[in-house]
Amino acid sequence: MTNYVIAQDLAGEVCCKPTFFQIKNRVNYLVQEYLNLEYLSDRIKDLPLQFINPQPRPWQTIDWQSINQSQIIDLDLEVFLAIIKGSLDTEAPIRDYTQASRQYLEPIHPQMAQFVGGKVAEDNTMIELGLWEKEERQHTPALSKIYQQLTGEKVIIQGRTPKSYQPSDNPTLDLYRHGLHRIATEYGAVCLYLWLITRTTGTIQQILAELLQDEINHLTKFWGFGMWLYPDSLRKKLNSTSSNSNSDHSIIRLIATFRRMMELLQWESWKINHKIELIYTFIWVMQQMMRWSRTLTPEYLATLFSSTSLCGNDTMAS
Ligand SMILES: [Fe+2]
Ligand SMILES: [Fe+2]
Repeated sequence: MTNYVIAQDLAGEVCCKPTFFQIKNRVNYLVQEYLNLEYLSDRIKDLPLQFINPQPRPWQTIDWQSINQSQIIDLDLEVFLAIIKGSLDTEAPIRDYTQASRQYLEPIHPQMAQFVGGKVAEDNTMIELGLWEKEERQHTPALSKIYQQLTGEKVIIQGRTPKSYQPSDNPTLDLYRHGLHRIATEYGAVCLYLWLITRTTGTIQQILAELLQDEINHLTKFWGFGMWLYPDSLRKKLNSTSSNSNSDHSIIRLIATFRRMMELLQWESWKINHKIELIYTFIWVMQQMMRWSRTLTPEYLATLFSSTSLCGNDTMAS
């Protein structure tokens, strides 16, 4: 009687005390809903239009007052709050993140730089926000409201100090290193919010689904851009990392980024079943992204990025 189905929500069938297989079904349902190949392709198809006329994705109306603890499914409130707090500390400060990315992108692809970080005057004042920032800056207030509604207290956001723009004499390699971390962070956010949607229902789930859709939107665009600019690089980097200890340590640094993210989410205090569910989500989402990635031909990517670029070759020799 403990895990019978009580209703349908955004992730399919809802249970009070879900088993691993019931959560797995909910993860699969969400992947089918929000990461199917057609949906992912639509997320990248609009880029040329977004370069010309950037339009943030509108959110549905949310009844913030209706957030309550009963919308969390079989997950301790303290753990849930620690995850929300950790997500907030990862999301903020968005302006610093967007501006570092804009600076790395500017010498390579000015339109992508503007999409990410907007237009900035010579004295560094913002003339126009980038679309990425417009969408991302809604996430911190939304997560803060969930926290406040559940605790009655305002959350104090620590936020990290993001690495500032540190150019070398090879902008293509700089962007590769920076971009890999951006993609990893978006992927991490997609997986975390997707798993949280399986463990929530009602208004909390609705808010997390808005965040998820934004993160998927950014992940597909950054992923596609990376595939266009560095078609063979990941394979080369993996080979060089294993064969030469003095070579680029992108992969090692990437693992360190994930480790830091999991520390912020207080992973060590999670129950084993929740850990397994999130690991399953990471694997299933990556598989789907790889499936989609194989549909992106160099010719198609060129139609999205080449006509607007200054430099489109994989020239990374350092
Ligand atoms: Fe975000
Ligand atoms: Fe994001």
